[in-house]
Amino acid sequence: MTSDVRIGIIGGTGLYELRGLTVVEESYPETPWGYPSSKIKIMKHGENGTKIAFLPRHGIGHALNPSEVPSRANIAALKHLGVKVIVAYSAVGSLQQEIKPCDFVIPSQIIDRTKGIRPSTFFENGIAAHVMFGDPFNADLTNIICSACESIFSNNKIDADGINVELHMDKTLVCMEGPQFSTRAESRLYRSWGCDIINMTVLPEAKLAREAEIAYQMICMATDYDSWKQNAEVVTVDLVISNSRKNIENAKKLLSAILPEIESALDKGKFDDIFGTMKSSDMTSQS
Ligand code: ADE
Repeated sequence: MTSDVRIGIIGGTGLYELRGLTVVEESYPETPWGYPSSKIKIMKHGENGTKIAFLPRHGIGHALNPSEVPSRANIAALKHLGVKVIVAYSAVGSLQQEIKPCDFVIPSQIIDRTKGIRPSTFFENGIAAHVMFGDPFNADLTNIICSACESIFSNNKIDADGINVELHMDKTLVCMEGPQFSTRAESRLYRSWGCDIINMTVLPEAKLAREAEIAYQMICMATDYDSWKQNAEVVTVDLVISNSRKNIENAKKLLSAILPEIESALDKGKFDDIFGTMKSSDMTSQS
């Protein structure tokens, strides 16, 4: 088993593989919550040969609906490999005019519209835990990712592959159940709540990463305007897939900027203080 992979990358819609990287090993561990979405590829990235564990969330050939993604097995399998930091990609719908299809968004908050439907904790069967989740993403990781992204965007813009792409930070992501997209009325309701983007996958992934003491941040790629816009076309799967595909090279560019920074932060022990945080969340251990 490879135990020195510290960085996990979860690929979303359109990002099912990272072509051009050397695969050094494949792992498909069975966890107490079953098998992960697919085999996890351990790859070497860039000049430093940074090892990453790549897992496509929806499985090979996008076989899994968001509600079917085995998130507990995915996070447990990455933890088993030694992962301490997860960078998760996701296609999202935009709920704001200024966030255009193909723009990148780094969310800082989440609203949960999947509650009670998906298994979202490792703690059950006699172990009761209440986990701090006011800030659902790891602040150190968010800062590293935002500054690495800003370094390749100029004034928060890049013009790559003919697409004028902007970067938006500190946004609110609403996570819905799916697999159907929202109605126009729901889409407008989320806007009235102050939500900026929408997807079906940040939860329970982010909650489980927190429970597993893994630093987690999602990088979102806008693919559509959902269905809130008067007289505008509503979101379709074709639109989501074609815009995600268009943006793959940009997503990889961001990854190349981010990975050396995360690696150097790990070397400096930046994320070490996460380990042991769950001790204070477990009610059953209190005397
Ligand atoms: N993923 C991409 N676009 C989406 C949308 N409009 N709603 C939910 N999930 C999405």
